[in-house]
Amino acid sequence: MSQRRPLIAGNWKMNLNAAQARALVGEIGAASSVHCDVLVCPSYTLIGSVVGQGVAVGAQDIFWMPSGAFTSRVSASMLVDAGCEYVIIGHSETRGRFGKLEVASRTVGYFAETDETCNLKMRAAIAAGIKPILCVGETLEEREQGRTDAVIAEQLRVGLDGVDMATVIIAYEPVWAIGTGQTCDTPEAERVCAMVRAELGSAGEHVRVLYGGSMKASNAPELLCQPNIDGGLVGGASLVADEFLAIVAAAV
Ligand code: PGA
Repeated sequence: MSQRRPLIAGNWKMNLNAAQARALVGEIGAASSVHCDVLVCPSYTLIGSVVGQGVAVGAQDIFWMPSGAFTSRVSASMLVDAGCEYVIIGHSETRGRFGKLEVASRTVGYFAETDETCNLKMRAAIAAGIKPILCVGETLEEREQGRTDAVIAEQLRVGLDGVDMATVIIAYEPVWAIGTGQTCDTPEAERVCAMVRAELGSAGEHVRVLYGGSMKASNAPELLCQPNIDGGLVGGASLVADEFLAIVAAAV
């Protein structure tokens, strides 16, 4: 039986104001769980509103330099100072390949995350004592080309290069399942999470591997009882207390 403690992480993305964030974390904290770790990842501006309320807090991104002339960026030590214990790194919405929006008639790139910048951020987070959650996953096009495993293996190889694995968490998030309502079917989610674990070699036994992508109360029990799925990275459903708490309750 696995010794890995489940982790249910809510990625609030760019949502909520301070009052809404306090109310939501209050509901989550009041029902806080002893059988798994519970985490919320709000926008930077909301971190101060949710720390110290019985739920672990993480950020949605980090910059790897410790300080300096990097307008708009937030360093690892700033996150520690603000009370964060975790950080999401390399979410598909920040990776350069996917971080694009249609604006009027043209496409505007708004982030330029690569596997190399993910690696720099992993190192910076660990050096500061923050637990990093590295997101990996394939696009629909990559899946249809039969490249799912190769794409993820490369994201892991570069993203984890030279990284101390003791506190690392991996989230498998198929890009086509994020915010679409389309969940990766359970046997396939389990297969990819097992593949991720195998790629980690001897560290794989203790690293928590999460699934993310349209996880909700209705599909969480089936996903979370798989031997290689140690928790969830939850977007939309983490903004609704009852949904999120039902996912927490389903963690085994
Ligand atoms: P979703 O988002 O649960 O809304 O699909 C997951 C994520 O982006 O981490």
